Amino acid sequence: MSSVLVMNGPNLNLLGTRQPEVYGRTTLAMIEADCRAHADSLGMELEFVQSNHEGVLIDAIHAARGVRDGIILNAGALTHTSVAIRDALSSVELPVVELHLSNIHARESFRHVSHIAPVALGQICGFGPQGYILALDALHGHLTKED
Ligand code: DQA
Repeated sequence: MSSVLVMNGPNLNLLGTRQPEVYGRTTLAMIEADCRAHADSLGMELEFVQSNHEGVLIDAIHAARGVRDGIILNAGALTHTSVAIRDALSSVELPVVELHLSNIHARESFRHVSHIAPVALGQICGFGPQGYILALDALHGHLTKED
């Protein structure tokens, strides 16, 4: 059974009420429940983490080394600023799927830069909460592929 860490960065605890015109009305608790149900159906174990603190996210990435098989990361605004999170991801050498609810490329230019993308398998953005399900499928496909 593979084991996946789903991580959410700053302000994502406010989903449901935060700028619903951008992020929708689905709460993080609802997303977590959907992720757990989908992970079960794929036979994956899931750890779900949210923090507003960069260092807490970095500690969670370090703790995943040798324990989890991959990481799904919505780093929120830290995507665009944090070399430290990128370095942490490079250090633990786990496959990473970068995730955003909104289409960051269709928004302000400062959101077009991602420090995560160069160390990720790929990026999923613009599909709202469904993106978490797509990310689980992507990571599952990566972890079970035979070549
Ligand atoms: C986000 C996009 C980021 O630019 C923003 O800072 C967020 C959320 C998203 O899920 O669309 O906090 O990661």
